[in-house]
Amino acid sequence: LLLPVSREEAEVERDAIVHRWEQQDRFEPVFVDSAGESRFSDHEGTRYLDAFSQSWYAVAGHGQQSIVDAISEQAQHLASVHAQWFSTQPRRTLARRLLEWVPAGFRRIFFGANGSDATEVALKLARFGTGRQAVVAFSGSYHGAGMAATSVTGMPECREGFGEPVPGTVFVPYPYCYRCPLRLEYPSCNLACADLVEDAIETQGKGRVAAVIGEVVKSVSGVVVPPPPYWRRIREIADRHGAWLIFDEVVTGFGRTGSRFAMDQFDVVPDVLAVGKALTSGYLPLSAALFSERASATFESRPLYHGMSFEGHAVCCAAALANLDLLEGGLLERGAELGTVFESELARLKERHPCVGDVRGVGVMWGIELVRDRSTKDRLPEGGLFVDVEGAEIDAGEWSRQELLRTHRIHVGVAPHMIQLAPPLGFGQTDLGELVAALDTVLSRIDAYCEPVSG
Ligand SMILES: Cc1ncc(COP(=O)(O)O)c(C=O)c1O
Repeated sequence: LLLPVSREEAEVERDAIVHRWEQQDRFEPVFVDSAGESRFSDHEGTRYLDAFSQSWYAVAGHGQQSIVDAISEQAQHLASVHAQWFSTQPRRTLARRLLEWVPAGFRRIFFGANGSDATEVALKLARFGTGRQAVVAFSGSYHGAGMAATSVTGMPECREGFGEPVPGTVFVPYPYCYRCPLRLEYPSCNLACADLVEDAIETQGKGRVAAVIGEVVKSVSGVVVPPPPYWRRIREIADRHGAWLIFDEVVTGFGRTGSRFAMDQFDVVPDVLAVGKALTSGYLPLSAALFSERASATFESRPLYHGMSFEGHAVCCAAALANLDLLEGGLLERGAELGTVFESELARLKERHPCVGDVRGVGVMWGIELVRDRSTKDRLPEGGLFVDVEGAEIDAGEWSRQELLRTHRIHVGVAPHMIQLAPPLGFGQTDLGELVAALDTVLSRIDAYCEPVSG
């Protein structure tokens, strides 16, 4: 059954809803009607390939019957009671299960709805627990839409126009080796960028920094994977100065990186782990902040006036449990295998296309950074080929996204001068073939604007 979208309905969408990350009168949505596995369909029945899991989150793919059944059964049995006075089985079971999913040393969990709730409570409790104010955060990071999370988000456009941020954030460069902020090279750099974190903490003054917050692998503003020993160094620095280490794994948690969490690959355990998105594969909104034994001890015996109406909602917890069953039932391994295939396919694309400056990623989250000249890493200028349907100048990453959606019916993610890929973990051979062929075509068109690769 297809639901036609009338002109009035389209106007409601355009005029009555506040649109995220967009100028209000420029929102041109695809009217989505249904979805299954790695595909979704619009109101006219046109099928699209979802190579971005909507926004990183649909790790289990669309239309998983076991998650739908779990939601339905729980909703019929008990939908919601308020967390301040009542406890439910799904919340208790999920708490126990999550504590088994993470390395030893975690103690308490706060359940929210969106990833923003998880980073917000992480930041509030870091202040509450340490009695300190300042936070060290990273350039280019994204941590959510709440005021505290926005204040530690290293994308200035996210703070623009919203007034003064929560005071106390100091930004340091993210370990982005392809364009090293210190013009050094790993490993001979000896992780000089990690020293900047210590410098920032010391400059704030003794006993002032409550936490260091970081995405273990950077996502929204462009995939970046830090060098292997980076987070161990940051852990040591945070410990030396009595600051909490907060890992934002809202994007990277639950199989996205080929392991349960990205931190598993860096062999570091934080004081707070913030997760969301793929916790339910997006079937219902649910997030969690997991606090270590040490962090929990700081608020154990004090009244804690922080809470939300729908924290630990029983139906959302039931969805998460069914999602974890799928991940444990072979999906995690399948994601890890898909990651290896992705890595080699993207490496081949890089060999063929001079416009590909860098291909970065881990597991099933990848970024293709586009350049005009591989030897200088100069970016492609906006304009020329790089305009939208109305002729407005856009960058090569956004042009690629629009082209893949419009011409090839493939949904990918975007960051400045980057194409981002994060399909469901069950993405099949046919899906992959289709994606690679479309990328090949799009990248060939961009190549025409690039310097040939010499040597
Ligand atoms: C790294 C990271 N942290 C936090 C968030 C906030 O999550 P949500 O949008 O679910 O509030 C996001 C959202 O994209 C994210 O990418």
